[in-house]
Amino acid sequence: MITRRHALTVMGAAALTPGFAALASPSTIRIQPAQAELMPGKITRGMVSTRPDAPPPVLRLRQGRTFTARVENATPDYTTMHWHGMRLPNGMDGVPYLTQFPMAEGDAFDYAFTPPDAGTYWYHPHCMTMDQMARGLTGILIVEEAEDPGFDADIAINLRDFRLGGDGRFIDLWTARGAARAGTFGTVMTANWQTDLAETAPSGSLLRLRVAATDTTRIYRLYLPGARGAVIALDGHPLPDLQPLPTEEAPLFLAPGQRADFALLMPDEGETLDLMTHAPGAPRRLARVTANGDRMGRSLDALKPLPPNPVPEPDLAQARTEELVFGWSPEGTAPNNGFCGTLGYTFWSINRTPWPGDASGAGPLVTLDRGQSTILRLRNESPNDHPIHLHGLAFRVIASNRRPVSPHWTDTALLLEKEVLDIAFVADNPGDWAFHCHVIEHQKTGLAGYIRIT
Ligand code: C2O
Ligand code: CU
Ligand code: CU
Repeated sequence: MITRRHALTVMGAAALTPGFAALASPSTIRIQPAQAELMPGKITRGMVSTRPDAPPPVLRLRQGRTFTARVENATPDYTTMHWHGMRLPNGMDGVPYLTQFPMAEGDAFDYAFTPPDAGTYWYHPHCMTMDQMARGLTGILIVEEAEDPGFDADIAINLRDFRLGGDGRFIDLWTARGAARAGTFGTVMTANWQTDLAETAPSGSLLRLRVAATDTTRIYRLYLPGARGAVIALDGHPLPDLQPLPTEEAPLFLAPGQRADFALLMPDEGETLDLMTHAPGAPRRLARVTANGDRMGRSLDALKPLPPNPVPEPDLAQARTEELVFGWSPEGTAPNNGFCGTLGYTFWSINRTPWPGDASGAGPLVTLDRGQSTILRLRNESPNDHPIHLHGLAFRVIASNRRPVSPHWTDTALLLEKEVLDIAFVADNPGDWAFHCHVIEHQKTGLAGYIRIT
């Protein structure tokens, strides 16, 4: 077997493969106005990123190694930064009012945490969330395994849409009609802010393709026609067994907030692998990876499951069960402005209570003793799907009234319309942990709350 180190020497292509960028994490992340050519020949202004003319970069952390970043706010609006999927100390979670005060223009906040888990995660603001995410502020965060799993190339793809008119300018970022239904869909689908992303990887190599759905609304239905390989991780966490790749007939649903890692055997020089999604009308190619260079001759036989992350296993026999009901908002509840923006409505609720804006005006949905094995029964009374996200912990989906479920560790589970899902975890991380739908219009109009672990 060719080791990665050998492969790098042979290929001499380290600098060309995005996955091999230096491990050093940037010490300053400046949230700032940005612009980019999202549509060919048209400049979109009024974007928000951490660079003036490019998407927020892929951040590479190392499992078990402390990450520190000073996040500065160079926009006129309030903001915070949240590290989606990280099991971190509550004070580093970036949720306004709940874990920190929102940052005004010119403010900075020092984040520091040590990721116990490897995998594909992401980062985004949690204040002015609708506005800043819709304008571009979503980035991929990779936690490298403590031991190199031996891929030859590593490509990260950030999937998201933008709501642009034909002139490339932003149109309404959301609509009341959308917020009260499935959410408002973007008009331009992008991968890494490009409408037709082209990447390369060595021919005959083993490629790790990481895909994150950071859109505010869209549930992608992904497949890789003709590709050879396996799904190796979902939502950051390794699958205990290699799973077959999704196909056009059986695509992988990737809802807002979710991630998938694919291990792929690159074909011969000049041949391509396409990442596709079903989309209204016709299938859409999101990205193409072209094989280049001399054949590396790797084999799928070399592929093994990734080492599991150290997540504590809940004791289901002793677990405490709590039910949470997701539904419409009671009439007449006024949204809360705070500093973090409001859509001006509440449409949604958890246990009949809408979260008032980004503020923590309501008490916790559930209070758990530290160490308690817990089952949350998520009951969807609405006719819409909701990707439900829990901060600060990883959980397993253990049962559904509608379908077989995969019990991998996750932080974001897609709750289908009228579905009842049981999720299980050990409440081992003390703090107030936000718990919300990742369709941001739903989150911002009431489908949010928090769980307290004492
Ligand atoms: Cu991805 Cu509460 O966030
Ligand atoms: Cu999160
Ligand atoms: Cu929702």
